[in-house]
Amino acid sequence: MKIIGTGSVLPKKIVTNEMLSQFLDTSDEWITTRTGVKSRHVISDEKLEDMAIDAAQKALADAGISEADLDYIICSNVVNEYITPQLSCIIQGGIGASCPCIDINCACAGFIFALDLAESHYKAGKVKNVLIVCAEEPSRMPDWADRRTCVLFGDGAGAAVLGPGDNIKSIKLSSSSATDRLWQMRRLQPTPFVTKEEEDVPLQMKGQEVFKFAVKAAEKDVRRTLEEADCTPDDVDHYLLHQANIRIIDSIRHSMEQPKEKFPTNIEDHGNSSSSSCPILLDECRKAGRFQSGDLISMSAFGAGFVSGAVLFEW
Ligand code: UT7
Repeated sequence: MKIIGTGSVLPKKIVTNEMLSQFLDTSDEWITTRTGVKSRHVISDEKLEDMAIDAAQKALADAGISEADLDYIICSNVVNEYITPQLSCIIQGGIGASCPCIDINCACAGFIFALDLAESHYKAGKVKNVLIVCAEEPSRMPDWADRRTCVLFGDGAGAAVLGPGDNIKSIKLSSSSATDRLWQMRRLQPTPFVTKEEEDVPLQMKGQEVFKFAVKAAEKDVRRTLEEADCTPDDVDHYLLHQANIRIIDSIRHSMEQPKEKFPTNIEDHGNSSSSSCPILLDECRKAGRFQSGDLISMSAFGAGFVSGAVLFEW
């Protein structure tokens, strides 16, 4: 398979670090030096599903195919206002497609897991065109009085259309259960029979542990894909890493001994947009004319679970 189109959409509301410091005990200096984030786009009056549909339509237009050509839609999402139906069905209706669709929740690594799922369908000969949409509103997860978490996130939707090709060189995934490091719970509707305690807990994160996991997992995943494709870190033209923290990106870059120019970033004005982060970055780089045909791209993401994955592909 091959990526033949991309699209992305961000909410219009931009929240700067200065704005946060007006109601939180934080500062632009702390957020910038510890995370790299200067501002983020957050949902105000937008609906996530509308942003997802818009991103999907942009990716279809870029690919030059119509919704009727789609054989499968995969949506990566952690939270949205609907518990059911699945977001992919809402996107399907919004773009007027009629193919089967599925939602996955693989936290920030959702785009890589979606590519892996799509690849299995290609290998089974079941699909010609697949749409992946990552739509996330992580700004709705933390307690906005908790300076350790709420400053990190931004919302958005990123989409990619896949077509037939031989451009995926390797995909590697990993999961290792660590459910007390990054988690959130919500209370369900009461029933006359439920006797257990349930509570609403906003996003909880042991930041330093997630940081260490991220650096280790990303480097390992990227190296495994390179090994499988018989490539070296120098062969890669662009490293598109999950935009969670500039210090995580810098650590991976240093251990891979690669120049800064190979690591495009948008964390400065997007923050961490969960699984949307990779496809939004991909779309922005494409639109900026950063990729030449034949360029080798390494993409890697990690998140709650823990889960992580990397993909090596040719543009
Ligand atoms: O998509 C995957 C999800 N998450 C991640 O990838 C996050 C990975 N982790 C990180 O990015 C970093 O661990 C953080 C950015 C979350 C935190 O940075 P850190 O350098 O690990 O800081 P820390 O948690 O060790 O906190 C250092 C200090 C603490 O104060 P004390 O206890 O030393 O007095 C915090 O209370 O910084 C304080 N702090 C803040 N100060 C100002 C924490 N958040 C803030 C804040 N503003 N927003």
